Amino acid sequence: MQQVAGADHATIVVRIGAPATLPMADLRNNIDLNADWTARDLARIWHPCTQMKDHETLPLLPIKRARGVWLEDFNGKRYLDGISSWWVNLFGHSNPRINAAICRQLEELEHVIFAGFTHASGIRLAEHLVELSPPGLTRCFFADNGSAAVEVALKMSFHYWRNLGKTRKSKFITLANSYHGETLGALAVGDVDLYRATYGPLLMDVLTVPSPDCYLREPGETWAAYSARQFEHMEATLAAHADDVAAVIVEPLVQCAGNMRMYDPSYLTLLRAACDRHDVHLIADEIAVGFGRTGTMFACQQAGISPDFLCLSKGLTGGYLPLSVVMTGEKTYQAFYDDYTKLNAFLHSHSYTGNALACAAALATLEIFRDEPVLARNRELAQRLATSVAHLADHPRVAEIRQHGMTLAIELVRNKATREPFDWRERRGLRIYRHALECGALLRPIGNVVYFMPPYVITPDEIDLLARIATQGIELATCD
Ligand SMILES: Cc1ncc(COP(=O)(O)O)c(C=O)c1O
Repeated sequence: MQQVAGADHATIVVRIGAPATLPMADLRNNIDLNADWTARDLARIWHPCTQMKDHETLPLLPIKRARGVWLEDFNGKRYLDGISSWWVNLFGHSNPRINAAICRQLEELEHVIFAGFTHASGIRLAEHLVELSPPGLTRCFFADNGSAAVEVALKMSFHYWRNLGKTRKSKFITLANSYHGETLGALAVGDVDLYRATYGPLLMDVLTVPSPDCYLREPGETWAAYSARQFEHMEATLAAHADDVAAVIVEPLVQCAGNMRMYDPSYLTLLRAACDRHDVHLIADEIAVGFGRTGTMFACQQAGISPDFLCLSKGLTGGYLPLSVVMTGEKTYQAFYDDYTKLNAFLHSHSYTGNALACAAALATLEIFRDEPVLARNRELAQRLATSVAHLADHPRVAEIRQHGMTLAIELVRNKATREPFDWRERRGLRIYRHALECGALLRPIGNVVYFMPPYVITPDEIDLLARIATQGIELATCD
C-alpha cells in the first residue's frame, strides 16, 4: 500500500483496490480517485516550472481524458482549459481530424532519421508552411520544441555571418521583459528574472534594450506613439553595435511569459527597416503567438514584414506533439550550401527532428486552417472575450485590460491610481488559480496578470463562464 499524504487509512485501502474505471457514483461515495495518482506522481515526478513543495497544499490534478476545451480528472470533474494547456492547443483536445491523421501516420511510419532520409508528412508540412508564412521564408529546419527552435535560429544567424567572413557579428539584441525558452542560449536572450537570474553566470552576454511594452506608456499616449518612442532605444543600439550584432530577437506583439505585455505592430515595421539598414538579422519568435493567436495567422503579418528567421512551435501541431520549425530564406540557405570540406554546413541536429507523427499532426492542424474560417471565427470570439470582461475595466484593482486577438490579459494592481503592483510574494495569482480549479476552470495567472488564451473551439457561452470564474477569482484574490 502506498502512503497518501493527508488521507486516512481506510480511504487508501478502498482507493488502491478500486478499478481504474469506477463510475461517477463513487465520487458521491467520497472515493477520491485522483488521490492515488497524485500520491504516485509526487513520489516519482519532478514537474516543470513548479516549486514542488507547493503541492503539500496545492492540488496536483491527474487528468484522465480531455475533449474539446474540457479536461476531466479521475473523479470525473471537468475543467475548462482557458490557457490551451500552456498555449499549445488550437482546435480542442482529442480533435477527431488530428486524431485520425496521427492514426493514419502511425500505420505507415512513426519516425525515421531525418538526415539522409525524409518522409511525405515532413515534405507536405514544409510546403504548406512556406505557402502560409510571410514572403521569402522558403526553407524549413525542424526541431522538437520552442527553446530548441530559438537555439537553431541564434546559431544559424551567427553561423551565416561567419560563413560570410563577418566573424565579429556574434552578439544578439533582445528586448527587456522578453522570454524565449529555458535552454541556455534561449535563456540568455530572455529577460524574465524569475527564470534567468539564477543562471546568469552561465549565460552569454546580450544587448538588452527597453521594451515597447505599452502598459508603460504615458496616460493618453497611443500604442503606436509609445512604440515609436521606445524604438529610439533600438535604433541607437543598432547604430552603435551593428558590426558586432548577428540578430535582433523579438516576440512579435505579445511578450507572453513577460506578463502578457503587448505592443503595437508599427514597432515591428520600424525594426524590420532598421535591421535592413544596419545589416542585422531579425528573428521573430512566434512560438507562442503564431497560428492565429493575435488575429492574423502570424503576428508579423500585422506589421507587413518578413523576418529573416521565423520560429514556430506550440500550436504548430495543434497542441498534440512536440515539434518546432525555424523558417528562413534562400539567402541564408545558400550561405551554408557548399562543398562538405569547406565545413560550412549547419550540423545542428536532434534525434527526433522531423518526427513523422508530429508532422502529421501539424499537417492536419494546417488543413483545418485551410478548410475552415478559423481567423474569421476567432475575430468574433475575440470580440466576445473583450465584452465578457469589459465590466472589469472599472474595478479598483484592475489597472489594464489588453488584448491582441485570442489573447486577453487583465493586469491586477494594489493601487489603480498609482499602478502600485501587488507584492509578488503575496501570490495573488495563485489564489485565482485555486479558485478557478474549484469552479472547474484552468486559469494560470502569470504573477498578477490573469489571462485568457483559450483553444479556438471555445464557445461564446464558455467564454462567459471563464469570465465569470475569473471575475469571482479576482474579487476573492484582491479584496484584502
Ligand atoms: C515566445 C516563446 N519562445 C519560446 C518558448 C519556449 O518553448 P518551449 O517551452 O517549447 O521550449 C516559449 C514558451 O513558452 C515562448 O513563449
